[in-house]
This record gives sequence, structure tokens and C-alpha cells, in this order.
Amino acid sequence: MDWGMQNRLSQLIKPDGHCMFLPIDHGYFQGPTTNLEKPAETIKPIIEYSDALFVTRGVLRSCVKPEGSKPIILRVSGGTSVVGKDLANEILTTSITEALRLNVTAVGLSIFVGSDYEKETLSNLANLVNVCEDYGVPVMAVTAVGKELEKRGSRYLGLCCRIAAELGAKVVKTYWCDDGFDKVVAGCPVPVVMAGGPKVGSDKEVFDFVYDGMQKGAIGINLGRNIWQNPHPVAMAKALYAIVHEKATADDANDIFIETKNQ
Ligand code: 5RP
Repeated sequence: MDWGMQNRLSQLIKPDGHCMFLPIDHGYFQGPTTNLEKPAETIKPIIEYSDALFVTRGVLRSCVKPEGSKPIILRVSGGTSVVGKDLANEILTTSITEALRLNVTAVGLSIFVGSDYEKETLSNLANLVNVCEDYGVPVMAVTAVGKELEKRGSRYLGLCCRIAAELGAKVVKTYWCDDGFDKVVAGCPVPVVMAGGPKVGSDKEVFDFVYDGMQKGAIGINLGRNIWQNPHPVAMAKALYAIVHEKATADDANDIFIETKNQ
């Protein structure tokens, strides 16, 4: 691997081999979603617990200070909305020139395997990798399901992750699942990070699935709503950081969460 690519990846994946990305890209199809109406305010108290921000160029320029910024994973796919016909019908929205101008550490896009736009979104990934390899910029593929959250089983996710890696993604972001997440990770030759999806019922559930996923080989998380839509985002971020980087168990994380939110 060339120096530039290695250098960028090392900014995202810490020396312990783990990473905690903070996604705030949801507005690109959800608009001003709950607790992300003002992204600068959302990230201010929790940014210290993140290794990188996943964000579009619009929010990056308008809400994130360039001085002393965390590494940036630039969301470069979009073109659809929650009220449109099909969330899967994405295009590449942002050029490599723009990504380099913004000095980003990586770029990320969604693929929608099994959708009507499977071929288009996989072409987006392949084309993006072709360009990004020329400049040493890692591509993170997001195995997206749109509104079909029930798709998130191990056979489907394993298929998506493997295809993403085969097409050249350097990191794959996917969902945790309870029916064989270890197989999803084992079948993917590049590092896997976990997304959270819509906010789940209890705080402990989040710690349980993140801990389980880390034990089963994920290198980290890219969790948004389950952190910043929680009434105690700082406690949530601190507790999850402890699982990812400090070898905390789910019970340890729960204790950290309770202690921090009561301070
Ligand atoms: C949305 C994304 C998010 O980055 C991803 O879904 C992670 O956030 P969350 O934990 O809220 O699901 O790709 O477009």
C-alpha cells in the first residue's frame, strides 16, 4: 500500500486497531433530523470521543471549524430523500478534486445490494475506488438498506460486505446482527465497522451489541442516532468509547454511562 493511503488509514484506525467514527451525515437524505438540526451544537460535547467525523461537504464547510478538526470521512453519495421514490437511487455527489481540496482522510458512499439500483450503486463504488486509488484516498462503503431495516440478517450483510470489499472498499460499514455477525466479519477481507441504525429501545442494548460485535471481529463503530439522539449523548459517547478503545465490557460501559449521566 502506498504511503498516502497508509497514512490516511492510520489517521482513522488507531494504534490499538480500533476506531470510533461519529456520523452526522444523515441530513443528506433525512433533512434536519431530531437532534441534528444544528450539527455544530450536536457534535460540540461529544467530538472528543470520536476518531473521525462522517459528514457531507455542506455541513463540513458550514458547521465544522477547519482548525484542529478531527479526520474527515466525506460522504460523497446522495441525491435522494426520505420523501422521494427510492432511497437507493443514489449518485456520486462530490468529486475527488473537492475531496482533496477539503483535505479529507477518506470518502464514504452507500451501496444498496438487492435493490432496483444495485448495479448503479455498485458502479458508483467501483468508479469511486478507481479515482481514489490514484490519490491514495481510502473508500468506506456503507451497506445501506434504505427503509427496509428487516433486511439486516447475516446472509444479506455478509453478501453486501464481501461485494464492497471485492470492489475495492478499504473499510466497510455495516449493521450488527444477532444471527451470525462473526460470519459477516469473517467473509469480509477488509475491516468492518458497525452502524447503529434508528435509536434502539434501551441504552444497555446498544452496549450489548457493540460489545458483541467487537468480540466478533468488528474494528469499531460508526454510530450516530444512538449517541446524539440519546438524552445523555456525552455519557453514551464516553461509554461506547470505553468499549471500543478501553476494553470495557457492556456492563462496564453501562456503569460508565450511569455514572456520567448522573454527574
Ligand atoms: C446515514 C449513514 C450513517 O452514517 C449511518 O447510518 C450511521 O448512523 P446511525 O448509527 O445513526 O445509523 O450512513 O446515511
